[in-house]
Amino acid sequence: MSKLALNDIDISGKKVFVRVDFNVPIVDGEIIDSTRIEESIETIKYVSGKAVCFLASHLGRPKGVDAKLSLESVRNELCRLLNKDINFITDFSDKSCLQNCRKGDIFLFENLRFNSGEESNSEEFAKLLAQGMDVYVNEAFSASHRKHASVHAITRFISVKCAGFLLNKEILSLENLLHSPKRPFVLILGGAKINDKVPLLKSLIGKVDTLLIGGAVAFRTFNALGKGGTTDKDVIEIMEIAKKKGVKIILPCDAVITKELKSGAITSVVEDVPDGYIAADIGPKSIKKFEEELKSARTVFWNGPLGAYEYDDFSYGSHKIASFLTSHEMAGAFTVAGGGDVVGALGGFGLKNKFRHVSTGGGACLEFLSGDKLPGFEVLPDKK
Ligand code: ADP
Ligand code: 3PG
Ligand code: MG
Repeated sequence: MSKLALNDIDISGKKVFVRVDFNVPIVDGEIIDSTRIEESIETIKYVSGKAVCFLASHLGRPKGVDAKLSLESVRNELCRLLNKDINFITDFSDKSCLQNCRKGDIFLFENLRFNSGEESNSEEFAKLLAQGMDVYVNEAFSASHRKHASVHAITRFISVKCAGFLLNKEILSLENLLHSPKRPFVLILGGAKINDKVPLLKSLIGKVDTLLIGGAVAFRTFNALGKGGTTDKDVIEIMEIAKKKGVKIILPCDAVITKELKSGAITSVVEDVPDGYIAADIGPKSIKKFEEELKSARTVFWNGPLGAYEYDDFSYGSHKIASFLTSHEMAGAFTVAGGGDVVGALGGFGLKNKFRHVSTGGGACLEFLSGDKLPGFEVLPDKK
């Protein structure tokens, strides 16, 4: 079901708060992939063409104010993409920008998570953000699984609200995967957000036929390369569900290890990770094992890189699997990738456009696919 869209309402001359997701991968202060920013440009141009546009996003997971996670570099990228000056608001309570603004002006708030009220879904912070705004637009599909102030509580304080173009487009594309995926349906899960992703597997596991696990999720939680199994409660439960439902779980059988995650680090390939080492990428045998499983897949959803792809030494596994998924061997499969980092990795390999669908959402996609309602989407009015 689509939500009321931006072009269903009159925003002419209004002050419009647009929640975007500019949580992009940044290494040494440089944005290494701008997909999430680029994907919001249509909405930003549409809003600023008719109204005053106030953009707001989080970046990373700061504990309070953290200069390294400032949205300043995103502001610069936005100026470049729009060829326009963007005003930066660092003090959420400074409302002077509301006085002399005009149609066409674009403002960007500093990282919302610098205020603890964002993640606690605080009414007070939501009211502060909403003050002086006429319209609320959610354009942040990839943050819509978060019940946070700028995604959820704020909708109580702005009566006119709707979905941005990207949000509705994402939901429509992913509904296909949720309701009628061609089988076998293989989920490739990697990345680093272990605490988020491992519990989600319990509901996801029932929706797919095979689960390939890589990235830090595999190495840190599943103890995949060790001989001793796992004592993690969630993992044990996931394995039990998988067994009952006949779902195959495939784990890596070798890894590229290092003592330090950095460029030019000393690396080696092992089948058992010694103490004090980081398993930073899947090894060559695991790549073969994963490719073997993928061959027969008709639907593939991939979230989370299989290694620390930001460093050349640990991007090989993700690169090989991305190449395989976009090769003629997989031409008959519906291949979808989702997540800020996995999409960043694909962009770096020059393979992003070869997937059938690329979603800006990582955790949001996984929650949606597992059948959960996304709080930031549910709270918007339905299309009439
Ligand atoms: P996505 O954005 O695609 O949902 P995540 O945000 O969960 O993915 O994880 C991305 C991060 O995971 C990247 O910064 C990457 O370096 C890290 N990562 C992946 N595999 C490993 C690994 N084996 N060891 C350390 N970090 C890893
Ligand atoms: C993401 O990258 O998946 C979204 O921006 C949400 O970020 P979070 O997992 O830190 O809430
Ligand atoms: Mg990420």
